[in-house]
Amino acid sequence: MRAMIMEKTGGPEVLRLAEVPTPEPGPGQVLIRVACAGVNPADWKDREGMLAIYAPYRFPYILGFDAAGVVERVGPGVESPRPGDRVFTPGNHGQSAWGSYAEFMVADADRTAAMPAAMSFAAAASIPVAALTGWQALFDRGGLRAGQRIMIHGGSGGLGSFAVQFARWAGAAVAATCSTANVDYVRGLGAERVIDYRLEDIAEAIRAWAPDGLDMLVDAVGASTLPGGLNMVRPRGAYVSIPTLTDDGNIEASFAAAEARQVCRIFSTMSDVACGGSLATIAGLIARGHVTLPPMRTLPLEQAAQAHIAIQTGHVRGKIVLNVAEV
Ligand SMILES: NC(=O)c1ccc[n+]([C@@H]2O[C@H](COP(=O)([O-])OP(=O)(O)OC[C@H]3O[C@@H](n4cnc5c(N)ncnc54)[C@H](OP(=O)(O)O)[C@@H]3O)[C@@H](O)[C@H]2O)c1
Repeated sequence: MRAMIMEKTGGPEVLRLAEVPTPEPGPGQVLIRVACAGVNPADWKDREGMLAIYAPYRFPYILGFDAAGVVERVGPGVESPRPGDRVFTPGNHGQSAWGSYAEFMVADADRTAAMPAAMSFAAAASIPVAALTGWQALFDRGGLRAGQRIMIHGGSGGLGSFAVQFARWAGAAVAATCSTANVDYVRGLGAERVIDYRLEDIAEAIRAWAPDGLDMLVDAVGASTLPGGLNMVRPRGAYVSIPTLTDDGNIEASFAAAEARQVCRIFSTMSDVACGGSLATIAGLIARGHVTLPPMRTLPLEQAAQAHIAIQTGHVRGKIVLNVAEV
């Protein structure tokens, strides 16, 4: 199969197209003919070798979590999905399997969900990691409830665009931070209070908007950009950070400080295990119009390096998706 491979970790120049053997689906797995691969900040960090903390790299190595495509074959024991089904998934790359920057990818069947009928492959590929991370942070880990006041730090990125809308859908009042150019965009997602972090003091804005403190704070940017985060959360509220691998601060000290203030401190890494049910729920919200997909820029797989240079700036609005092949 044709794939964007790496033979060592490093800058965008380590990415190159090559022919490699097509993987085989094992028990409980499906082989997906990939139409589109979603790009996440995790991809450039992965390319640079930062995911070695989870598992050693074996080369050739294929990046990419998010995929949308058609099931080509199923492994032993798989009843659903079936060959020919249109599915999307964060795949098995989180456990070191070859990723989605390739014509074919293997995924556990229970990590896939059916694509809504009217959805394009590019749109479906933009969803898994960003939406699942937001969903798990808000609901599975944070326990967000209707009527609560929440701030999403980083409202205009892939994750933030979903998180703001999920929180609104759940009946929470949402504040969100972003830069000046994204203020109208984030307001359009449903944020009641948009805080332009370039012009405003975030802590001051939150004191005025939530005088008793936030019920939940989700940091999707990084510890150094929100030094007073803990003080914005009310006692017994939740302070959820999405681990970035680049700006997570002193995690132990952060737990201790939160305990002293009786704030529930959570570092919420995305879980891909058996995530098909949550993906299907999210697909349903999108299909019914409760959640709108973030704006998307598509590039051919050949331009994966350019996609990485863009995502690495940390200022992409919405998502970048790679067109891998016609399926
Ligand atoms: N551990 C996990 O399981 C996991 C899963 C998913 C994501 N993540 C991490 O979460 C982070 C966000 O992911 P993503 O997919 O949303 O990234 P993204 O699409 O690249 O979005 C980043 C966003 O951050 C905003 N931003 C940058 N600096 C900011 C600041 N100082 N204050 C407020 N907003 C700021 C940017 O908005 P402006 O241009 O308006 O500044 C941009 O829209 C990344 O570090 C990613 O690696 C971790």
